[in-house]
Amino acid sequence: MAASCLSEDELKEQRFFEQRVRAVTHVFDHKPLAFTHTYGCQQNVADGERLNGMLEEMGFEFTDSPDNADLVLYNTCAVRENAENRVFGNVGALKHIKRRNPDMIIAVCGCMVQQEHIAARMKQRFPYVDLIFGTHVLHKFPEMLYGIYEKGGRLVCIPDSDGVIAEDLPVRRESRFKASVPIMYGCNNFCTYCIVPKVRGRERSREQADIVREVKGLVESGYKEILLLGQNVNSYGKDKGTSFPALLAELDALDGEFMISFMTSHPKDCSHELIDIIADSRHISHHLHLPVQSGSDKILKLMNRHYDTSRYLDLAEYAKRRIPDIQLTTDIIVGFPGETYEDFTATLELIRKVKFDSAYTFIYSRREGTKAAEMDDPVSDEEKGKWFRELLDLQGSLGEQAYTKYVGRTLRVLCEGRGRTDETLLTGRSRQNIIVDFAGSDELLGSFVDVKITMALPWALTGEIVK
Ligand code: 5AD
Ligand code: SF4
Repeated sequence: MAASCLSEDELKEQRFFEQRVRAVTHVFDHKPLAFTHTYGCQQNVADGERLNGMLEEMGFEFTDSPDNADLVLYNTCAVRENAENRVFGNVGALKHIKRRNPDMIIAVCGCMVQQEHIAARMKQRFPYVDLIFGTHVLHKFPEMLYGIYEKGGRLVCIPDSDGVIAEDLPVRRESRFKASVPIMYGCNNFCTYCIVPKVRGRERSREQADIVREVKGLVESGYKEILLLGQNVNSYGKDKGTSFPALLAELDALDGEFMISFMTSHPKDCSHELIDIIADSRHISHHLHLPVQSGSDKILKLMNRHYDTSRYLDLAEYAKRRIPDIQLTTDIIVGFPGETYEDFTATLELIRKVKFDSAYTFIYSRREGTKAAEMDDPVSDEEKGKWFRELLDLQGSLGEQAYTKYVGRTLRVLCEGRGRTDETLLTGRSRQNIIVDFAGSDELLGSFVDVKITMALPWALTGEIVK
């Protein structure tokens, strides 16, 4: 099936099923309660907000424990094995609750169960799971849930597809100030370690006009941070005769005080043009998350990344020159099949050269169905663990000092909430996407303030509001 936009009629049908479910749950002797949990990346969180939006339309309220829920929904991630193991563990733990409350519906959806072998395992191991559905039929959640209420039994729906685009789904946003806006779905890159192209289908971009309309509406209704999402935002628009820099330029021209951030950028498609647009923009965050994955050209080739370290270093250097206060972050995989200690030390070398503000580091996880899963992988887990700790130590010592340059400077900060570790402080994010804590009252939530930085920690800044 080719990637396509779903028709208005197809989507309207789901709004109809929402009302049918509402009629079913309406006769309960209590308000129906849903417990939902999303694993994985921001794209999945955005999907989760849409699933919750549909549940809200179906009459559900939300609870933070599965114990008293009428419906439990796990929206899963497949990117590494430990994410999958957590889901198996959590679904296993529902057995006793379901025994106590056999009417509770248990649903598992998303990337992990889009893999047939996992869906089959889930179905066999957990006979009490009622509904399993993949990434390409998220929009059909109301219809599937209604089917279960109506007919009983179990439903597994994981059609293979290049992917679809479902516009205007109901959405229940987690924040009143920050909104995520998917701009494209899927991935065409086939990095050899990565399961994403398999579970999320081919790249497909939303229409630029639809995105601009949505962002404009969000800004007008008070949202202050817009997070543009895609597996590889830099290839946005290739299928639509436009480009990511062109989209950013149009969004940056919108009026109002708000921030635009985006993830994730692939170095192969990241251009000087994009960096120039960020540098000259009014609204775009000075944060570039540019996953390098490895500092060895041999490993980058085996990973099918389509760039080498010299191109990466050029991009990092250009970004720092054009945007001196840029926050540069990355992802790194340790222990890819065929990686030697020498290759690994090339990664350490690259980290020393670039001096990332922070790095998300992962030990390679074998994903069935990917090319890397077929490659020879002779290095032991123990050895990979040692390398991993060496990497953490180095990044820890480099990252420790990363934010000290901000001490004494005044940063514009969006106030987002109360501090996680200190409730007496407000917390927010600067234009560089750095966490900033400061004293202030709740009426500042959702507004921008100027904060003079007094202290730097490795993961956050502390300061005082400038009157
Ligand atoms: N093993 C380990 N890490 C992985 N990532 C993606 N696939 C794998 C895998 N099989 C990491 C990459 C990616 C991030 C989201 O997850 O670094 O950028
Ligand atoms: Fe996990 Fe990737 Fe799916 Fe995101 S797209 S939920 S990271 S597998």
